[in-house]
Amino acid sequence: MPEKYDFLVIGSGGAGLSFALRVARFGSVAIITKKDSAESNTNYAQGGLASVIAGQDRFEDHINDTIIAGAGLCDPAIVEMVVRDGPSVVRELLAWGARFSTKNGQLDLGREGGHSHNRIVHAADRTGKEIEQTLLAAIARHPDIHVFEHHFALELITEHHLGRKITRSNGDIYCYGAYIFDTRSDKVEAVLAKATLIATGGVGEVYLHSTNPSIATGDGIAMAYRAKARVANMEFMQFHPTTLNIPEANSFLISEAVRGKGGILRDRNGHAFMADYDDRGELAPRDIVARSIDDHLKKSGDDTVYLDVTHIDSNVLSESFPHIMATCRSYGVDITKEWIPVVPAAHYLCGGVLTDREGRTSIHGLFCAGEAACTGLHGANRLASNSLLEAMVFSKRAAEKSVAYIRDRDWVTGVPEWDDSGTFNAEEAILIHHNKQELQQVMWNYVGIVRSDLRLARAFRRTHLLFEETEEFYQRTRVSVALCELRNLIANAYIIIRSAMSRKESRGLHYTTDHPGQKEEARRDTII
Ligand code: FAD
Ligand code: SIN
Repeated sequence: MPEKYDFLVIGSGGAGLSFALRVARFGSVAIITKKDSAESNTNYAQGGLASVIAGQDRFEDHINDTIIAGAGLCDPAIVEMVVRDGPSVVRELLAWGARFSTKNGQLDLGREGGHSHNRIVHAADRTGKEIEQTLLAAIARHPDIHVFEHHFALELITEHHLGRKITRSNGDIYCYGAYIFDTRSDKVEAVLAKATLIATGGVGEVYLHSTNPSIATGDGIAMAYRAKARVANMEFMQFHPTTLNIPEANSFLISEAVRGKGGILRDRNGHAFMADYDDRGELAPRDIVARSIDDHLKKSGDDTVYLDVTHIDSNVLSESFPHIMATCRSYGVDITKEWIPVVPAAHYLCGGVLTDREGRTSIHGLFCAGEAACTGLHGANRLASNSLLEAMVFSKRAAEKSVAYIRDRDWVTGVPEWDDSGTFNAEEAILIHHNKQELQQVMWNYVGIVRSDLRLARAFRRTHLLFEETEEFYQRTRVSVALCELRNLIANAYIIIRSAMSRKESRGLHYTTDHPGQKEEARRDTII
């Protein structure tokens, strides 16, 4: 690939693609993405995008719902800005060609946990696919945007690569692009950019059970952390309450919109147990629902609960949830007649690379948007369907600021080629696989829905050992995607565990038996 662009976009999900479309009028754009371009969390989103569109709904209500879910850590100014921008990004998606579900000529608005109104714009139960395909089609029509599939971002280029010493507290770090690994030709190139956007998504893969596709290895967060950017609130990993509990189904998501349509959570005796935990029942925010399921399973000794939709008209089910219905059927569950076996799984990272309200990170020339970013919108817990909204709003703001940023900038000179001297092809590649499995197990067992000081300390020790082994392997081995992803997963795990250890209270998604309850003095972001 050519080695100089005005804008380098790392990631081809909703955040990266929409950013590229917005900046393309102002300069050359490269989108690099590590697999096929559609492979992203965005592509699998089901429920939809939350926005105040119609009816009795008001901005104040969406703001309030978001702040309640965020358990005291949302930045109210950011919440207000994002919520008020919602209708304009929905209009923008429609203008790019998205076809959302309608009823009587108006957008059909769904309901999800924690929302006081129907406000979820959706495309049946495959909203993410509709958004991803719409954006990719718009990109394909654009002559000035170049998409490089199967290109993996290894490291951000900063002063460090020019031989200058930088520290985390030094405010003057600049990003000049990234080292990119072309996984088909097996070559690493330095790609220079005036502005770089991290849009690499979340890190669900760090847990044994996750709704995320395998691309979600936190690469952008790990790269930014190594480049000494500020990273925040990584202890707040959201577990989705309802994923299909059939081993071959790979934690397939059963959208919260199913509970929004009236789905009831039952134990194997048919008891609708959510009423025992929260007055809002099935539509309580998802940290509460996930923790309630976890608690109910521990108390009953069962290994699954069930989502019952058999009382809902089958026409409504097939119209609203065709994908969920077909997938369950392919695993032998007819949802019109049988309860769906469900358990929680890791789903969404509320923390990430810290940005300001314009998507700027603490490194000059480095922007971040989407799930990889921590913007202040979600606080300690994300409200359902607020992440597609956040990705669209912040990619817009980052686009505006990066266009202004590149005006008086030139490409840097003197960046060295990638140095892999003294490294060899991996003879024991299987070790990478084993270490990844071990990491996922440790995170699942000790850093999950319910935590404790003992569990976190244990996780820290195990992860440190994996870190040492993997670093040593990395120093003497030629780069491979599997090895780099493992290294990035370990970096994310380390930050998640350290952040969790430092929060001596229970708030939002971080629940620890040793420090139950919120503490006013702990009501602040965890910044690393
Ligand atoms: P992604 O869409 O994940 O894109 C990341 C991109 O970065 C990918 O193209 C990936 O290949 C690329 N990449 C990563 N690392 C590298 C690297 N090193 N080099 C090159 N490329 C790289 N949110 C909602 O608001 N509503 C929903 O209904 C909803 N449903 C969901 C359902 C599921 C099953 C899942 C998994 C998530 C859901 N979410 C939902 C969350 C939401 O989809 C994501 O938070 C959002 O799509 C993230 O967008 P993104 O652009 O930041 O990242
Ligand atoms: C879902 O459809 O339940 C996912 C919604 C979300 O993660 O916001």
